[in-house]
Amino acid sequence: MYSDAIKSYQLKENALILAIESSCDETAASIVRGGREILSNEIMSSCSEHVKFGGVVPEIASRAHTTAVARVTDAALNAAGLKLGDIDAIAVTYGAGLLGALLVGVSYAKTLAYALDIPLVPVSHIRGHIAACYLNNPNLEPPFISLLASGGHTAIIYVKSYTEFEILGQTLDDAVGEAFDKVARVLGLEYPGGPNIERLAQNGEPTVVLPKMFKGEKTFNLSYSGLKTAVINYMHNNEQQGKEVNKADVACSFQSAALDVLVARVVEATKLKGVKTVTAGGGVVANGYLRNRLAEACSERRIKLYLPQKRLCTDNAAMIGAEGYIQYKNGNFAGLDLNAKASVEL
Ligand SMILES: Nc1ncnc2c1ncn2[C@@H]1O[C@H](COP(=O)(O)OP(=O)(O)OP(=O)(O)O)[C@@H](O)[C@H]1O
Ligand SMILES: [Mg+2]
Repeated sequence: MYSDAIKSYQLKENALILAIESSCDETAASIVRGGREILSNEIMSSCSEHVKFGGVVPEIASRAHTTAVARVTDAALNAAGLKLGDIDAIAVTYGAGLLGALLVGVSYAKTLAYALDIPLVPVSHIRGHIAACYLNNPNLEPPFISLLASGGHTAIIYVKSYTEFEILGQTLDDAVGEAFDKVARVLGLEYPGGPNIERLAQNGEPTVVLPKMFKGEKTFNLSYSGLKTAVINYMHNNEQQGKEVNKADVACSFQSAALDVLVARVVEATKLKGVKTVTAGGGVVANGYLRNRLAEACSERRIKLYLPQKRLCTDNAAMIGAEGYIQYKNGNFAGLDLNAKASVEL
């Protein structure tokens, strides 16, 4: 494969892809058949080692990947009942993410691809989040509107085909997941903030008045820094005045302010593009309130909604296998000079 053989490689229908993901604090490996069917999906996380720092420490994450990557890959093969020799291609996240962390997965994937003499498929983590919706949904096909809502990205995207994308709007500052994490910190909740805010919000009411984003403006862009600052100011002002704050109400108010706008933008985007299908991806899509609001908005308008299972929203390798298969079918193979990238274009 790493000689002239790459030119004559015959693509396989329903190829078995071993996918590896190590862009942040999860080391993950998955085997996906034909880009849609998950045969195994294993994750090891160094999350608990980062809690006391309030966020991911890149050096700690990278070191954890070096000890986890081979174990998680073995676990994925065992769970699928397969051997390395059964695999048709290796897909790996090469960006975006923490450089040191990515390099562990990229180096390991290169070694496997070289040793097995099979294609090495470079995958963008962001495209992986978008492609998660294809998993377990054999009938889903573009075009559709995709909501990308993760720790580092927030965008409304028109997916024209498997490989053509148009960003209709995106955040101009913080990502929505980042805002959840920062607001969680000021509420005294542990990292990662999103699930903890969701839990606290269940006991609250949306009674705290927070700024609405781009009210009345015709734009698909988003901004989370004003909303985040408003929550921080609200907490500090009350603290200075010695007033008791109902944190559950703050969490609930923030959650709806941050997420309602995404649902509204998605609906507008379907009208603009005249499409009747919506998908979503990224860690924030694990949020139950957002899932329910999207489901309501889509059913009212007879729009088909495909949401990945919650564990396929946060970082995982199955989504890398889904996007990896799309790249594989297009013959997008990397050489052994593949490098990790901290940021990648969509
Ligand atoms: N239930 C939830 N509600 C809200 N936010 C959530 C929930 N679960 C996870 N998140 C948020 O999702 C983010 C993690 O998602 P993800 O793993 O997709 O991001 P990332 O990999 O750090 O960033 P990116 O994918 O953009 O590079 C965190 O900000 C986390 O707080
Ligand atoms: Mg991610």
